[in-house]
Amino acid sequence: MQNQSLLCVIPAQTDTIALAATRLAAGGLVAFPTETVYGLGADATNAAAVAGIYAAKGRPSRNPLIVHVAAADEVKQYAQVDARAEALMAAFWPGPLTLVLPRLPGCILADAVSAGGATVAVRSPAHPVAQALLRACGRPLAAPSANASGRISPTEAAHVAASLVGQDILVLDGGVCMGGIESTVVDLSGEWARILRPGGVTAEMLAKHMSLDGAAVLDEGVALPSPGMLASHYAPRLPVRLNAVDVLSGEGLIAFGPEVPRGAAVVVNISRTGDVAEAARNLYAALHALDGQDLTGIAVMPVPMVAEGVAVNDRLRRAAAPRE
Ligand code: TXA
Ligand code: MG
Repeated sequence: MQNQSLLCVIPAQTDTIALAATRLAAGGLVAFPTETVYGLGADATNAAAVAGIYAAKGRPSRNPLIVHVAAADEVKQYAQVDARAEALMAAFWPGPLTLVLPRLPGCILADAVSAGGATVAVRSPAHPVAQALLRACGRPLAAPSANASGRISPTEAAHVAASLVGQDILVLDGGVCMGGIESTVVDLSGEWARILRPGGVTAEMLAKHMSLDGAAVLDEGVALPSPGMLASHYAPRLPVRLNAVDVLSGEGLIAFGPEVPRGAAVVVNISRTGDVAEAARNLYAALHALDGQDLTGIAVMPVPMVAEGVAVNDRLRRAAAPRE
């Protein structure tokens, strides 16, 4: 109990962002909002600070981290940037797209951000608080989602506080994340571009730019090897039942669209109008809200596999997967 005071939530504003930057420079941990979910940041060039992220989350050391940068021109210091990467960064950065690139040997990043491997994942977040923090501290920030490993990602500062209670973390509260689901992860380290994790930047959006070199093959929605893509990621405490058209006794319901089956103990509708982007934005808050209640399980209505719906279904499938 005495450790609970270590985690501190403060509103994100100019002076607190400066304070947070000082903390990061000293090797500390800062959770901050991005346009997707809250990240748990540390100086990506400081091995001890990066180790602190793994410890705070209870994250397996084989699972590498995304390095956040203020702008695309910085990436050449850390990774090989080919024409495909240039095109995608120009089209989608800052924004919810992460690129896995060959890491430059001898670069200043801590080895642990790559989990000791030969690639590094990079992204430039669009959220103004994330941008201000990156610019204030003047260094790249390693930042996974700010939740205990394997649990639901946070889209509000209160989710971070609940998941990482007792850890020595400064949380910059920038309100609710508008994207709601983690960035799209695209692996460009080999000849073929592969989507490792679907997100707000869809395969169709990427395909418009990947055709530049004529060699890109996109394979969205297919399970592909990425260390962080364990089946039971994003797991709530309660069991999750997908594609529900009815409700079982004692279940809470995540509803989608205007027609909702009756009988749920609690209903959270992630989009009454049936809008998949709105559903993405509200999904994690709905899971957090229902998971905290006295229910037998969480039933989820079907969400169509279009646009952001692909990422929503990916996260739901993982939330429902058997636990390790
Ligand atoms: O939207 C996001 O991406 C958020 C915000 C905070 O930026 N971050 C996030 O980080 O979701 P995390 O650590 O929860 O998920 C990163 C994913 C993991 O699945 C990890 O395995 C994968 O990216 N990843 C990171 N580096 C990689 C690499 N070098 N090769 C392959 N996959 C990598
Ligand atoms: Mg995560």
